[in-house]
Amino acid sequence: MKSISPKVLLLIAAVMLALIVSTGIVIYMQVVMSHIQWNWVVAGLIISFITSGTLLLFVNIFLFKKVDQLLTTVKNFRLQSDIPHPNIEYSSNSIYNLDLEILAWADDRKNEIERLKKLEVYRKEFLGNVSHELKTPIFNIQGYVLTLLDGGLEDASINRNYLGRAEKSVDRMITIIDDLEAISQLETGELHIEPERFDITALTKDVVDAQELKATTKGIMLSLPEDIKPIFVVADRFRIRQVIVNLIVNSVKYGKEYGETQIRFYDSGDNISVEIADNGIGIAKEHLSRLFERFYRVDKSRSREQGGTGLGLAIVKHIIEAHSQTIKVASTEEIGTVFSFTLKKG
Ligand SMILES: Nc1ncnc2c1ncn2[C@@H]1O[C@H](COP(=O)(O)OP(=O)(O)O)[C@@H](O)[C@H]1O
Ligand SMILES: [Mg+2]
Repeated sequence: MKSISPKVLLLIAAVMLALIVSTGIVIYMQVVMSHIQWNWVVAGLIISFITSGTLLLFVNIFLFKKVDQLLTTVKNFRLQSDIPHPNIEYSSNSIYNLDLEILAWADDRKNEIERLKKLEVYRKEFLGNVSHELKTPIFNIQGYVLTLLDGGLEDASINRNYLGRAEKSVDRMITIIDDLEAISQLETGELHIEPERFDITALTKDVVDAQELKATTKGIMLSLPEDIKPIFVVADRFRIRQVIVNLIVNSVKYGKEYGETQIRFYDSGDNISVEIADNGIGIAKEHLSRLFERFYRVDKSRSREQGGTGLGLAIVKHIIEAHSQTIKVASTEEIGTVFSFTLKKG
């Protein structure tokens, strides 16, 4: 049916109608008049063919024109969908095409509704996480302020100390909000990557120098290759700095006392691979696939204690993906973790 055009269908219908009418005439003549006058039969055949043909032609004009219009409307609707179906191959039968279009449209709608539902769950989860994260420092601040108001202000042994703690909680809120801002800018695509050519080893050395003090308080050594030579890459310098800071800070936060974080560079054809390897607490296998999700933390209390928001790796991944590059993680519990990401050679 699908390859028969409406015109051929009409012709077949008209011929069949004419044949039925003329068979009727033949039977009538045979039964009632007991002999058949063939010229009448032929006349009947021609007249019924013309009449039914004309009638069907009108049907064609009204019906198929309408079907064609519907087809265009449905197709336009379908193409407005965010992820439209791949193009449909039309046959010469527009009713059949309409059927295909409607099925594809329904399929697109179904997918879109599922996508929206997922987004809705994601959004709710995100809001829940944000308010949960902000609640802790706010309640802490409230506690310190209330104690100070309740006479603590006059108590020299606690007043400065409590104000200092409240300050720390404010700092924590600022960190969370900064991370949230970065995530939302990266996710809405507001933040554009501004590539430039720079020496990745110099940038890494800069970050190492800035983080060294924090690392040494934990007895952790940050080490770069000894015979390091400049390696040029094309990337957003500021954003890549953010990535390296995040990974080095993590290696210290989740590192063991007197451990070591090694930063290494590998040449892999068009790309440079940057590796940040620690011999810290490591990450169990079951967590690895979710590590880059926002707010995902292996050990919530440890992360919070260390001032973590659970957003660092989500930001890191966004930045690397915005560069069309990749980031990977490999880890063994109690042995250590290796993060490696690629950058385009410059
Ligand atoms: N180098 C690492 N060693 C062990 N665990 C890590 C390391 N880096 C990240 N993690 C785990 O991944 C989680 C997510 O990291 P991240 O997104 O940076 O958030 P956080 O703010 O908690 O540091 C951390 O809470 C921690 O459990
Ligand atoms: Mg982190």
